Order: sequence, then structure tokens, then C-alpha cells
Amino acid sequence: MADPEKHPFLQGLSKHRGAPPTVVVIFGASGDLTARKLIPAIYNLSCDNLLPADFHLVGYGRKAIADEEFRTMAASAIRDFSRRELDAEVWGRVAANTTYVAGGYDEKAGFDRLGAHIKDIEKGVGSEVQSLFYISTPPSVFGPIIQNLGASGLGGMYLGSPRHSKVIIEKPFGRDLDSARALNAELRSVFEEGQVYRIDHYLGKETVQDLLVQRFANAIFEPIWNRNYIDSVQITVAEDQGVGTRAGYYEQSGCLRDMIQNHTTQLLALTAMEPPGSFEAEALRDEKVKVLKAVEPIVLGAAADTARAQYAAGMTGGVSVPGYLQEKGIAPQSATETFAAIRLSINNWRWHGVPFYLRSGKRMPRRVSEIAIQFKCPPGTIFPRKDGFNLAPNTLSFQIQPDEGLGLILNAKVPGLETRTQPVKMSFRYATTFGSNTPEAYERLVLDAMIGDGTLFIRGDEAETSWKLYTPVLDYWRSMGREGMEEYPAGSWGPPGAERLIAARGHAWRQP
Ligand SMILES: NC(=O)c1ccc[n+]([C@@H]2O[C@H](COP(=O)([O-])OP(=O)(O)OC[C@H]3O[C@@H](n4cnc5c(N)ncnc54)[C@H](OP(=O)(O)O)[C@@H]3O)[C@@H](O)[C@H]2O)c1
Repeated sequence: MADPEKHPFLQGLSKHRGAPPTVVVIFGASGDLTARKLIPAIYNLSCDNLLPADFHLVGYGRKAIADEEFRTMAASAIRDFSRRELDAEVWGRVAANTTYVAGGYDEKAGFDRLGAHIKDIEKGVGSEVQSLFYISTPPSVFGPIIQNLGASGLGGMYLGSPRHSKVIIEKPFGRDLDSARALNAELRSVFEEGQVYRIDHYLGKETVQDLLVQRFANAIFEPIWNRNYIDSVQITVAEDQGVGTRAGYYEQSGCLRDMIQNHTTQLLALTAMEPPGSFEAEALRDEKVKVLKAVEPIVLGAAADTARAQYAAGMTGGVSVPGYLQEKGIAPQSATETFAAIRLSINNWRWHGVPFYLRSGKRMPRRVSEIAIQFKCPPGTIFPRKDGFNLAPNTLSFQIQPDEGLGLILNAKVPGLETRTQPVKMSFRYATTFGSNTPEAYERLVLDAMIGDGTLFIRGDEAETSWKLYTPVLDYWRSMGREGMEEYPAGSWGPPGAERLIAARGHAWRQP
């Protein structure tokens, strides 16, 4: 990141947001997410002096790993995945307080050992320490971990004080409405809602937060942010990769569960919600839930609001790649969608009649996430739509990744002696304005949880509201098997059904 002391736009930013003495316990600490995201996030927080003075990191898992071995694993994760080079002095400070406890996830004795270890840490610190439990395991053991946090008393530590224990729970949060409700019930049997931080890492991305700032810190958008001026909204979350080595997971998930129900729907909620009364967690989450509740049920069957497809063999990045059904570990008759498109209608005063188009897929031409707000065309009285007047609807696009920024398509006069028009794009690029080394989403989210700020996390009722919307689609698709499943060549923007879905209301997908 640009040095705050030097960069003019970053001067005066607070460096300390005041987390109390904290022990972060990672369950599943030998796993992929820990190495790729969590350890680098903690390291970068340390580089930025954002960890509390008394910070301890404890790995927990079934494998017997010595403290020193865990530190070595962590250092190599930083070398491989951190946005900053490993600085021996900074890492040394974290490493000195990094330890490992071996134990099963369904074994209370392991949690008792963990509890004794936390007590030892408190003795060293000389005060009560808040515990932040990060559940970074496959979902099959979320339940046992939650139950054992309850049975061992760790879940209820210091309840009623700001140093109460907290739990971060990874995605997927359930696989349908019933399982999300069951997981919420399990959490509530041990924790109060204020202790629970459900992750959707999209909310930690700079540009997702910038969407809120653009909407509510600028006066020019809010007056036109409604059905009178906005024609339609498109949200795209595209991946260029195929299923890779995650076939086992993906076959049980699919695009709707993996991307649309969480990330894409979060982007929709932030785009469409009413202005909250404040930037407090509950105010913001109340508005997100309200707008999700106003989404009309998705039409299934004939004239459906949905399209689903699997990628077929094709070319991406100049390389021939196999189709989904030919990938290793995929059932030859798999009915798992790798692409989904959904048309949503929001039944409230602001959005009545404005379609929201959501799409996500694997093996698309490039990795890109964007929200595009398309405004209504101006009346063609002065500049009629004919030769020489190439007019495009004004479109405001939030580029979430990569190349984070904001673009606005305007119509401008082409220089010359006659009046001709051409759409032009005005752009703001994060990397150009602020420097390219921006914090990763997990840095922001781990820090917020340590501080006790739930604004960028999903509340229990929010998760259930989202699943309520999509569970009928999942049930319907399951009942149909492969019937209605389309194909799209790898390296394309999706199947014909997605084109029909959007064309039915007179629109076309953008090429982000
Ligand atoms: N990896 C990512 O990029 C990513 C991205 C977004 C969300 N997530 C979510 O983050 C969580 C962790 O992901 P991950 O990729 O780190 O998972 P992972 O590597 O498969 O598993 C993490 C650790 O959990 C333990 N574990 C694995 N399988 C288990 C099983 N069947 N029963 C009990 N313990 C098991 C293992 O530790 P021990 O053997 O030492 O106990 C393993 O090292 C998941 O919920 C995932 O959906 C991951």
C-alpha cells in the first residue's frame, strides 16, 4: 500500500482502530484458506500496526503439529501469498506469539486443552483477552466445533463485556433454507447474534465498500437512483477458471449456491437498499434484509426468470480446455450448473419495473465482477437516434475486480465542424489514484471482527432471507435433473438461454 505518510490522499488516516488484547484461534489451521488468506491477512495487519499490542495466534486441527512447525508453515504462506514481502522483524513479533493446539473438532477434551492454553496466554498478558474463533474447516464440522465451543465454555467467555468471545464462520452458510436455519439455530444455542460474524469476503473488498460511499457520500446519485431514471441493473461475477481441483466440492454446490446466493446477491442488496440511518452494522443490515424481502419470488418453468448451463470444451486464454462433464471427478451425467443467470424484480416504490439481471459462471472470457447501472435514454428530440448521433444510455459501472474502479458512459460531441456524438467513458481507477497495493478483503474482515464491527458481515436473518429466495430454484432444478440444462463453450459469456432471458425485456448483456 502507498505509504500513508507520503500519499496525499491517505494522510491523516487513523492507524489504530483499537482492538483489545486478542487471541485469534483458527480451526482448520493446516488448510488452504488459512495459508492463502488468513495468515497473510494477519501478517499485513501487523505490517500496518493494526494488531493489538497483545495479539496471539493459535492454530487448531486434528494433525499433531508442533508450534515451531506451524510458525514455519505460516512463514511460507506469507512468502507465497502475502501482498507484501516477508519482513523478518514484523513476522518475528507475530511468530513469537504463535502456537498450535492439536485436537479433534468433535472432541471436547481438545477444546478443554484449548481453553487451558488461552488461560495461559491471559496469565502472560496479565489481563482478560478476547477470543476470536475462526472456523475455517469444511462445513461438515461447523456443527461439532460450535457445540464444543459451547460445552467447553469458550463460546460464552466474558459475555456482557466488550471482550466477549466472537466466532467467524466461513462460507458456505448452509446449502438451502433448511440447512441455513439449522446452522443458525446451532449458533444461537451457543452464541448471541452479536458474537457471530458470517463471512462473505466480497463485503471486505474495497470497491464493494466504495459502492456505499459513492451512493451515500455524493449528492448527485441518490435523486436519480430509482425507477424514474434507472432502466435496468446488471450484476456479473465471472470466473475464467474451470472447476480445477475442486470437483468434489463443486459437484455438491454449483453456481447458484457458490456465487449467486451469496456474493452476487450481496452486491444486489447494497445497490438496491434504502439509505441506512447510519453506518452502524444494524442500520445497514436492516436495510439489506428489507430490500431482499421485497424481491419477488423467482418465476420457474415456462417464461422462467432463470437460465442454467454447463461449460463445454472451448478456448480460454488461447488454450483448449475440456468441458465440465469431461473434467476429473465430475459425474458424466452431472446436473450441476457452472453458469446461472437470474432476472429479479424488486417490489417496492423505488424499483418497481426495473429488472435486475444477475449472472455468474466459470470458464467465461475473463475474471471480472461488476455492477452496471443503466440509465434511461434521454428523449431523442434534440439529437435524434440516426446516423452521426451514436448515443448510448448513460451507464455507471462499479468494477469490483480486477482493475477496481468506477466508470461512467456519457455521450460527447465528436470534435469537428459538424455535430456528431459518440459515447465516451469517464473512469476512476483505484490503482491510479491511490496506488495498487490495497488491503485484501480478509484483512479488513479479520480486523473488523477483532474490533467487534459486524457491518461487513451477514446477519442470520439476512442469510435466511437470501436462501428463501433461491431454495425454490434449487428444488426445481433438482426435480428437473438435466432437463433444461444448456451448454456454453468455454471462453464465452454464457448460453443462449441467458441471452433470451435478458432480451425478453429489451435488454442485452454488457461485455464487462
Ligand atoms: N480455500 C478457499 O479459497 C476458500 C474460499 C472461500 C471460502 N472457503 C471456505 O473456508 C473453509 C476452509 O476452506 P479450506 O479450503 O481451507 O478447507 P480445507 O483445506 O479442505 O480444510 C481445512 C482444514 O480442515 C480440516 N479438514 C479437512 N477436511 C476435513 C473433514 N472432512 N473433517 C474434518 N476436518 C477436516 C483439515 O485440518 P486438520 O486435518 O488439521 O484437522 C484441513 O486442513 C471452508 O468452509 C471453505 O468453504 C475457502
